[in-house]
Amino acid sequence: MDNQANPILRIEDISKVYKTKGSFFKGRGTEVIALNRIYLKIYKGEIFGLVGESGSGKTTVGRLIVSLEKSNQGRIFLDGVEIAELKGRELKNFRRKVQMIFQDPYQSLNPQRSVYDAISEPLGVHKIGNAATRQELVEEAMKSVGLSPPEDFLHSYPHRLSGGQRQRVAIARAMVLNPQFVIADEPTSMLDASISAQIFNILLEMREKSGVTILFITHSLAAARYLCGRIAVMYRGNLMEIGPGEEIIRSPRHPYTQALIDAIPKFGQRGEVKRYGTLLGAEREGTNGLCCPFFPRCKVAHETRCGKERPHLKELSPSHSVACYYAEEGFEV
Ligand SMILES: Nc1ncnc2c1ncn2[C@@H]1O[C@H](COP(=O)(O)OP(=O)(O)OP(=O)(O)O)[C@@H](O)[C@H]1O
Ligand SMILES: [Mg+2]
Repeated sequence: MDNQANPILRIEDISKVYKTKGSFFKGRGTEVIALNRIYLKIYKGEIFGLVGESGSGKTTVGRLIVSLEKSNQGRIFLDGVEIAELKGRELKNFRRKVQMIFQDPYQSLNPQRSVYDAISEPLGVHKIGNAATRQELVEEAMKSVGLSPPEDFLHSYPHRLSGGQRQRVAIARAMVLNPQFVIADEPTSMLDASISAQIFNILLEMREKSGVTILFITHSLAAARYLCGRIAVMYRGNLMEIGPGEEIIRSPRHPYTQALIDAIPKFGQRGEVKRYGTLLGAEREGTNGLCCPFFPRCKVAHETRCGKERPHLKELSPSHSVACYYAEEGFEV
């Protein structure tokens, strides 16, 4: 693939630390390392999955990319241009090219504004088209997310819509600007399974039609497998494994990825799950910041190695990397 040489998005050594304020009742403030030296490359036109359990730092990656937050360390490039350096017109242009769809369409839509207002607002902000062409663009965007015929929805307000329809409005609002890069942050975690499947298909169609690149954030490996070409697995702010979705699911190399896969309910399966043994029942005590981030919970970890020094991502093949001493050395865990 020739686009492999030039990723549309490049994340280089990003760290993010949140400081929580102390108070009389809570005592001194604390620091949370939300991201710990993350590297990623995302290529044009791919749907890339970022998977991990709650608190692993997925949303933080998204918020740093759209520059809703600043990192403490590292750099992010879109099309070779460093995002932190953008100013004025270039920054505005960037805000058109990169869009984020959030988990909760109830919160991301203003209850006081109609569907037309919600979808046309970004066109106004970016001064795209006039009143007539805006209506056309809005209707086109609505059709592409299955809100058809548009007249039935244009003047509705969010409370009149179902959860799935609301998320379609949020997607149309992002897509009306014809972005190059979209971050979909758990866009279906509030929806039931059949509606989620419809939203997934809308994302797949969008990619087919416009060639948009999508960063799909989810806690579900099953959802990532359905949608994504490549998948990265995160654990407590660290990247543990990255590779082609099919390969990650078929032959996961990191014990944490294996535990995630074993946690996917299999249709018709009862009783004990095959490899669930990679997770300790209780966390190991006395661990320090230098060890493998998964060491406290990993059953196969080695005290003298995994407990002393953190493994870095190493290539198992040009497309598959893992941060685990066992996997590096070809052990089956
Ligand atoms: N504004 C903030 N202030 C303090 N800590 C924060 C803030 N935002 C996130 N964090 C912490 O950073 C870590 C990563 O959070 P993040 O929201 O990125 O995780 P996530 O993987 O998106 O989780 P979820 O699946 O629950 O959405 C968590 O420990 C979280 O508590
Ligand atoms: Mg999140």
